[in-house]
Amino acid sequence: MKILLFGRGGQVGWELQRALSVLANVVALDADASTNPGGLCGDFTNLQGLRATVDAVRPDVIVNAAAHTAVDKAESEPELARLINALAPAALAQKAIKTGAWLVHYSTDYVFDGSGSAPWTEEHATCPLSVYGRTKLEGEQAVASSPKHLILRTSWVYAARGGNFAKTMLRLATEREQLTVIDDQWGAPTSAELLADVTAHAIRTLQTRPGLAGLYHCVAAGETTWNGYARFVLSQAQALGLPLKATPEAVLPTPTSSYPTPARRPLNSRMSTAKLQQAFGLQLPPWQQGVARMLTEIAQK
Ligand SMILES: NC(=O)c1ccc[n+]([C@@H]2O[C@H](COP(=O)([O-])OP(=O)(O)OC[C@H]3O[C@@H](n4cnc5c(N)ncnc54)[C@H](OP(=O)(O)O)[C@@H]3O)[C@@H](O)[C@H]2O)c1
Repeated sequence: MKILLFGRGGQVGWELQRALSVLANVVALDADASTNPGGLCGDFTNLQGLRATVDAVRPDVIVNAAAHTAVDKAESEPELARLINALAPAALAQKAIKTGAWLVHYSTDYVFDGSGSAPWTEEHATCPLSVYGRTKLEGEQAVASSPKHLILRTSWVYAARGGNFAKTMLRLATEREQLTVIDDQWGAPTSAELLADVTAHAIRTLQTRPGLAGLYHCVAAGETTWNGYARFVLSQAQALGLPLKATPEAVLPTPTSSYPTPARRPLNSRMSTAKLQQAFGLQLPPWQQGVARMLTEIAQK
């Protein structure tokens, strides 16, 4: 089996390089062709180049971890966001249909408007609030036009590599005695490691059970707010003996309305993962498990 992976340097792409390596030969690309094997195009603004890459690699599975993920910036560059999040995945879907390859793709809680407090299922109507959400929705619809597709919608992705919310909270807590963090957006922090491991398991399963193709929600178990997430990070950091000025109790709550941003964000990003767990025989761990693990890794550096 041969897997063609796009977006290898991102949070999820990086972990996919590890998790997919036990399944197949992985040709992993990023946007800069000069760093890619054979100078292959992995640039999502070059649709002709992407098609040529699929022709050259002839993969059994295409995995797309590339995306325009700068949610606020997307509001001022909607055409670029649409090219990367919708038109490039559509080009890959057309190629997948022609070649019979599987196409694996990631989407987001931002396809929902965040109303109510119940977990969103795959059956719920979408209603994105932002350019990012709209372009990601268009992208997932294009990917779904290929019968052999797997779309994992996820939320609040973090990874030990690169910057992330937990690291920002740790840094701020060493500089200040009080932090103020939003307490009315609900969701589940989900590790790039978990997404990559689920993807590998699902790709393996789909080889013998192609009828499981489709759209699934994939997030860690449980729910919290950004405020609860920050408090958990600081309580773990305290337990690990990291020097902090701010304690978990010093993380003050504030509503989203007090922190205006160019892109509107959903207040309710809870997602039901029952369909994924049942179809693929998986159990998704509590969000605290992955965050605690990442903090232990950071503390040991
Ligand atoms: N991050 C989240 O909280 C979150 C939440 C829900 C869903 N998701 C979805 O999960 C997936 C993976 O996200 P992530 O967190 O791993 O994002 P990420 O860390 O921002 O990675 C995105 C990757 O896409 C690449 N990319 C950007 N523009 C490109 C272009 N023109 N051509 C090729 N590659 C390009 C980036 O490369 P450069 O770094 O070189 O620009 C980066 O490697 C995405 O589909 C995202 O929409 C993410």
